[in-house]
Amino acid sequence: MKFSAVCEKSLGEGAKILLNGGLVAFPTETVYGLGADAFNSQALARVFEVKKRPHFDPLIIHIAAIETLEKTANLSILSDETRKKLFLLAENFWPGPLSIILPKSEKIPGIATAGLPTAAIRFPDNETARKLISLSSGAVAAPSANPFGALSPTRAEHVRDTLGEKVDLILDGGATRIGVESTVLDITGERIKILRPGGTARDAIENVIKCKIWNDEPEIRNEVIASPGQLKSHYAPRTPLFILGRDEIIQQDYKTDDPASRTGFLFFDGSTRDAQREAQKLHDGTVIKVLSESGVMTEAASRLFEILHELDNCNLSRIYAQKAPDEGLGEAINDRLRRGANA
Ligand code: TXA
Ligand code: MG
Repeated sequence: MKFSAVCEKSLGEGAKILLNGGLVAFPTETVYGLGADAFNSQALARVFEVKKRPHFDPLIIHIAAIETLEKTANLSILSDETRKKLFLLAENFWPGPLSIILPKSEKIPGIATAGLPTAAIRFPDNETARKLISLSSGAVAAPSANPFGALSPTRAEHVRDTLGEKVDLILDGGATRIGVESTVLDITGERIKILRPGGTARDAIENVIKCKIWNDEPEIRNEVIASPGQLKSHYAPRTPLFILGRDEIIQQDYKTDDPASRTGFLFFDGSTRDAQREAQKLHDGTVIKVLSESGVMTEAASRLFEILHELDNCNLSRIYAQKAPDEGLGEAINDRLRRGANA
């Protein structure tokens, strides 16, 4: 494995590795991805192997030019209305943290989409990602670069520490800007559905396509899970994680616990200062973190996985995390907390 800062030379090397069927971890604006050439089924098989990802869980196909959409998706079978919605979404949210489910092109091997007739397509808003994709085949399949079910990587070091030698090259582009994964949106059915809340907020999408967006209740179709990212236990730290509402964390319901063991606290913002002081008194080894002192949702989202990684490395008996307000990116933050807590 090679670990390189992003530069013209390392980008060129990365593209060559991809074109030769290798694996390159690279930054996107959401989290780091584990990239493989989307047209090469052997390379795709390695992604599943390295991540220990079940083969029923499809990958997201990343593109770096709108023209590549034709090579990765079959737009000809979309209704006029759906096509209109697709172009509105692309115009408003691409490049950006939105993955759109579309009928897949025949050029994409079935292993990429776990045998589904659809593919999730995303045009990331990160220069390194876009250059790497453009210099290679133009389509890179990339799940988050973490072992299946574990916390997502927002720094190159997270990838090195968890996947390490199994990756051919890790491109270090520093901390990711958004910090939670893309929103996965299915526009192929009668109802438009969010399969996974993420970096593009629901109301922003509703405002653009002017229709209600439904939730995807985890659904099993012919034993294939509609959106396997919806598996309940996912994005999980090794340390047991519990979610508390703002009132619960302020009223310190956790105090009934065994005071001898060390606890980590993840507060949403600085408005809970008194509760933070009380929590600190529980034990000398208590660790307190705040997602965003001033409660800025984008900052909170961008720090979520990073702080969970830190807390997870503190040898704590448990982590209490405060729920975010359920608006904008708060939906994605709470979704990741719930799955991390398996609640
Ligand atoms: O921000 C992101 O989306 C990151 C970066 C690297 O781009 N990628 C990412 O990939 O989060 P991954 O594999 O960890 O999550 C992909 C999600 C999974 O929940 C998967 O089930 C869903 O997208 N997905 C992919 N293709 C699908 C399809 N054809 N139908 C339904 N869900 C799909
Ligand atoms: Mg993932």
